[in-house]
Amino acid sequence: MEQNLYSEFQILPLTTRHKLNSFDSSNIDLNDFFINDALKYQEEMAGRTFLCCWKKDIAGYVTLVTDTLEVHAVDEKDRIDGYPYQKFPCIRIARLAVDRRFERKGVGRFLLSVAIGKAISISNEIGCRYITVDSKTESLGFYEKHNFKIVKKYMHSKYPKMYLDMYPIATLMRSKESLEY
Ligand SMILES: CC(C)(COP(=O)(O)OP(=O)(O)OC[C@H]1O[C@@H](n2cnc3c(N)ncnc32)[C@H](O)[C@@H]1OP(=O)(O)O)[C@@H](O)C(=O)NCCC(=O)NCCS
Repeated sequence: MEQNLYSEFQILPLTTRHKLNSFDSSNIDLNDFFINDALKYQEEMAGRTFLCCWKKDIAGYVTLVTDTLEVHAVDEKDRIDGYPYQKFPCIRIARLAVDRRFERKGVGRFLLSVAIGKAISISNEIGCRYITVDSKTESLGFYEKHNFKIVKKYMHSKYPKMYLDMYPIATLMRSKESLEY
């Protein structure tokens, strides 16, 4: 398998047609959710799942939900980007996993960019400023690499909540679009 498969990845919404049983990331809970619950969540409008496919294989998936990012804005040092608000509208990456065979080939980054793209597209219709994740300890470095920050309030929790401000990305995308007209 080639190292860089970026141009060959395809993003597809999860459907009943997909065969999920063979998905195998290094995280058992994320496999279990994907194989047994993702479709049910989707049917119940509790989470939307998108697959990253390479040829006929499912290389990874991401599940997105709406959420609220809550902070202790009373304490200035805990504020998000200096705002005095306690709550911010966000999209949360509820699950993200890459099959072991595809690890470290850019699938995680690709799924992250898809999640950000979808969240920004939502923000064109409904207020939504941040994208968040309750990171597993072993994937903290992955999110930090992609400019996510830890919410101070959750610094010591088992799954620290992390956030990414979409404003700079959205601004860049909009100014690029305006040049294309
Ligand atoms: C964490 C995970 C999503 C990363 O996906 P991936 O496809 O292997 O990562 P990518 O190839 O897209 O990596 C992109 C960059 O992040 C880095 N990276 C990947 N995983 C990392 C980790 N765990 N810690 C630190 N950096 C990491 C890569 O080195 C790469 O950096 P580079 O461009 O400088 O080389 C994947 O390994 C995984 O599914 N792990 C098990 C489940 C899990 O922990 N999911 C997260 C739930 S919150």
